[in-house]
Amino acid sequence: MDKRVFPRDFMWGASTASHQVEGGTVNQWTVWELAHAKQLAKTAEDRLGWLPRWNKIKNQATDPENYISGKGVEHFSRYKEDFDIAKKLNLDSLRFSIEWSRIEPTKGEWDEEAVTHYRQYIAELQKRNLEPILNIWHWTSPTWFEEIGGFKKRTNVKYFQRFVEKIAKEFAQDITYVITINEPNVFASFGYLTGRWPPQEKSVLSSSRVIWNLVIAHRRAYKILKTSNPKLQIGIASQLANIQAKRPRNVFDEISVEAMRYVWNWWFLNRIKHSSDFIGCNYYFSDYYTNVFKRENPKIPVSDLGWYMEPEGLYPLLLRVWAHYKKPIFITENGLADSEDKYRRWWLEETIIAMERAISEGVDLRGYFHWSLLDNFEWKHGWWPKFGLVEIDRENDMKRTIRPSALWLAAHIKELMK
Ligand code: BGC
Repeated sequence: MDKRVFPRDFMWGASTASHQVEGGTVNQWTVWELAHAKQLAKTAEDRLGWLPRWNKIKNQATDPENYISGKGVEHFSRYKEDFDIAKKLNLDSLRFSIEWSRIEPTKGEWDEEAVTHYRQYIAELQKRNLEPILNIWHWTSPTWFEEIGGFKKRTNVKYFQRFVEKIAKEFAQDITYVITINEPNVFASFGYLTGRWPPQEKSVLSSSRVIWNLVIAHRRAYKILKTSNPKLQIGIASQLANIQAKRPRNVFDEISVEAMRYVWNWWFLNRIKHSSDFIGCNYYFSDYYTNVFKRENPKIPVSDLGWYMEPEGLYPLLLRVWAHYKKPIFITENGLADSEDKYRRWWLEETIIAMERAISEGVDLRGYFHWSLLDNFEWKHGWWPKFGLVEIDRENDMKRTIRPSALWLAAHIKELMK
């Protein structure tokens, strides 16, 4: 009897994003990093002193260099080596993003060398039988785009559209899977509502504008891409949380949960469901709500970033996503910051069980992409959080070392797909 739960063509991959690994990027984030690194280092203890591992990360978190993406992990020049590692890990696919600021560093002028780079990049993936999952936009924009107001202005969406047309023209015939936008909810809320990320606005109006413009941006991108190749499978990577009531049946908790699920998980997807071939789900959190919108998560176990870890929360989330949209689902990101590789294996094992349970219940789950293949630049936190299946020693020629949990995953994938 065939006991395998994962379908034969289930995709096992990892995710990366240009700005977080390539090195040498020049975009609105690099500008912000350079302007804020000192201040971020100075205020690190206020923000992070509560973390259980504060003493271990202190040196890095209080060093301004930590907050500069700089050379990245030199993935731009060492991508072939990284693809070979992915193969060693028995992965068959890789999600990566195209850096808009490389393709169009000056408004309206294409850098054909950058286009050639990504063409070779895709070809090298395919040569190794690694399915490329091309992510068009993972939060970073050319500085000229930011200077004219970025996604806050509806009239600027046409520039994104033009970029998508270029991507369609150059790559649409060579690939099958495209993600247009990564986590629009995170981008709009962190950058424009809570002011934690560039451009650090705290405005309900600005964040609403941004999120609506990203809806329009996705819908237009979908049309452009489908017209250029009707076989393309297109979606977004959505940050979805397993939002639960701390006290089930308590009316306040349940109302908060329904509202949060709607705003955070469903609002954007509802608006683009007719222009999505699949749902991309980035899963990191279970969040427990109590009273009126009060998040109150258990205190253990937590990751290096202090995030409560409940990998099995993926199961109820997948059931809900499936019930809502009845479309194929990919886990487009999932992982944890764990520099000692203490929890990653447990996390992976629980996650795989959660996926098997969901598939057994009839969820059309098509693939799993771990965040991340490599240790990478973790936005406002910089370099100290370690998300990689592969450890990178930035002090020692960017040496790559496969973490034990990744070796376990590689063996387990083989076993699962036998
Ligand atoms: C983002 C990644 C990020 C990861 C871990 C996701 O929300 O898409 O860029 O590194 O979370 O924080």
